[in-house]
Amino acid sequence: MLASPCLLWLLAMTSLVPRAQPLAPQDFDEEEEDETEPPAVPCDYDRCRHLQVPCRELQRASPAACLCPGLSSPAQPPDPPRLGEVRVVAEEGCAVVHWCAPFSPVHHYWLLLWDGSGAPQKGPPLNATFRRAELKGLKPGGTYVVCVVAANEAGESHVPGAGGEGPDGADVLAFGPCSRLSVPPSPLTLVHAAVGVGTALALLSCSALVWHFCLRERWGCPRRAAARAAGAL
Ligand SMILES: *[C@@H]1O[C@H](CO)[C@@H](O)[C@H](O)[C@H]1NC(C)=O
Repeated sequence: MLASPCLLWLLAMTSLVPRAQPLAPQDFDEEEEDETEPPAVPCDYDRCRHLQVPCRELQRASPAACLCPGLSSPAQPPDPPRLGEVRVVAEEGCAVVHWCAPFSPVHHYWLLLWDGSGAPQKGPPLNATFRRAELKGLKPGGTYVVCVVAANEAGESHVPGAGGEGPDGADVLAFGPCSRLSVPPSPLTLVHAAVGVGTALALLSCSALVWHFCLRERWGCPRRAAARAAGAL
């Protein structure tokens, strides 16, 4: 009794799913219909792994058939990559940026860096295997916005707020191709700051002591003051 509604539901799902999700891995669905072929496994492809060979090339090189995620059309510019972790090395004034490939054919990537003075600096082109790049020459205590751009023959991926002052707003920066990065002040600056604070504290305690003894001199110990006055005579 239960079998027929389940079967109907399954049939409905298998016919609906590919149409409802055009970007879903299409190759995965074909396997369910054709039971005679051996079940194919996903290719050893990670879109966030650095120096990752494109999945289509893995497929061509692989002796056994494997499956790739579906991609957008090569006739369209790529979707924006997703920027992940940004690790700042303050002492060396550099940052390492990680990203994940979009589900689109990509020919190359580059980074854009805004330092708050208008136009962004454009990094060198990085081939399609790259998922990591280094930003150099960052100023200690500086705040920057970094974006990763993907390009193919049809154009380049969208950068939020490009052309103006750079991307802004927390919603734009979360899970997008951009991220804000702050370089902490260098250790030398911290040492200077510590020396400054130390000096200020020392001056403060000196003036407190002077103030304290002046007050004592005036109101606190009249006898000693009198004695000293007598001695001087
Ligand atoms: C991409 O760049 C890396 C590092 O420079 C290099 O090892 C690799 O051969 C390049 N791949 C292609 C397809 O050009």
